[in-house]
Amino acid sequence: MRVGVLISGRGSNMVALADAAREGRVPGAQVVLVLSDKPRAGGLERARERGIETAVVERRGRTREEHEREVAAALRAAGVELVCLAGYMRLLSPCFLGEFRGRVLNIHPSLLPAFPGLDAQRQAVEHGVKVSGCTVHFVDETLDGGPVVTQRVVPVLDSDTPETLSARILVEEHRAYTEALALVCSGRYEVVGRRVARL
Ligand code: GRF
Repeated sequence: MRVGVLISGRGSNMVALADAAREGRVPGAQVVLVLSDKPRAGGLERARERGIETAVVERRGRTREEHEREVAAALRAAGVELVCLAGYMRLLSPCFLGEFRGRVLNIHPSLLPAFPGLDAQRQAVEHGVKVSGCTVHFVDETLDGGPVVTQRVVPVLDSDTPETLSARILVEEHRAYTEALALVCSGRYEVVGRRVARL
């Protein structure tokens, strides 16, 4: 499975996926392209260090549709079969999703459907929940709303700040995303309505 990872920032989830694939922990997966909408995304350098092809398609100076068309073209040119969003800070339109239907994953730092959108860890701390975690899900037209592939739970401590909770969740994000990628690459699942069932 040729995997393309879309990032906007530091790219720690991208690194987790790329290293797991390279080390044979995700049979059949290979990260072939890391694409960012931000030229200064730290993850680009981390991809290059690993010998992974990188691309930048800035949103600036393009309409949303042009931007997505170029992103899709870059993915297509690299022969990408599965797209993993990893800290990619843009919503994808139905036009993009039409081309990659059922083949786009995202990771979100909360137990969805709780706390979708920005600053999920801060939302969790401010709401006073006692557990939080992360969710890997298929992407559809809704915000953080597609079928859930996997979730991992962490405690929320009384002393937590959004930063300390984020750090605890991030450790689990790397595990969850690797596990979800392995499942999707194995093909041993089926999506029934909103449910991703393991076969
Ligand atoms: C992660 O917390 C991810 O869940 C969220 O954005 C952050 C990206 O971190 N969508 P990184 O760039 O993978 O280190």
